Amino acid sequence: MDQILQMTYLWLKAGHIIFVIFWMAGLFMLPRYYIYHQEADAGSPEETRWIDREAKLRKIILTPSLIVVWVLGLALAWTIGGFDQGWFHTKLVLVLALSAYHGWLVAYGKKLARGEQGLSGKRLRLLNEVPGLAAALIVVLVILKPF
Ligand code: HEM
Repeated sequence: MDQILQMTYLWLKAGHIIFVIFWMAGLFMLPRYYIYHQEADAGSPEETRWIDREAKLRKIILTPSLIVVWVLGLALAWTIGGFDQGWFHTKLVLVLALSAYHGWLVAYGKKLARGEQGLSGKRLRLLNEVPGLAAALIVVLVILKPF
């Protein structure tokens, strides 16, 4: 029985990390797409192609990865009793912030698709630091469990 539980935990963790990678990749790509999208002429075929690429990235990569990371992450937390541990509370705050950033990016893309102009390319490039910073802090928390 112990061995089954241990194997389940390891498979959950492997799945969790695989989908974290997909989610992060999508979060890094989407603002890049927005930069190219904003540089295309309004109403041009190129703009239409960017709108289409953004929608596909959301549908195929970002939304499914977000859901799977959360489901497997919560299952892991339940398995290891994470809800009683300080590092996990901090990780939850960071992951909630990252999920809110994800939601904001999606809303921004819908605005762009309606033809509303948004942030400058420079601002979007700066925003791309957000998931990198959050991921670094989260990985340190889960590996070192400092509290
Ligand atoms: C979305 C909500 C998330 C929840 C609820 C969650 C929860 C968890 C839990 C409970 C563990 C097991 C820790 C252990 O066994 O010691 C874990 C492992 C891990 N998580 Fe998450 N996580 C989430 C998102 C993320 C994100 C966004 C990242 C990275 C950017 C991440 C990176 C990792 C890594 C690298 C491990 C493996 C640590 C080890 O080797 O033990 N997680 N996660």
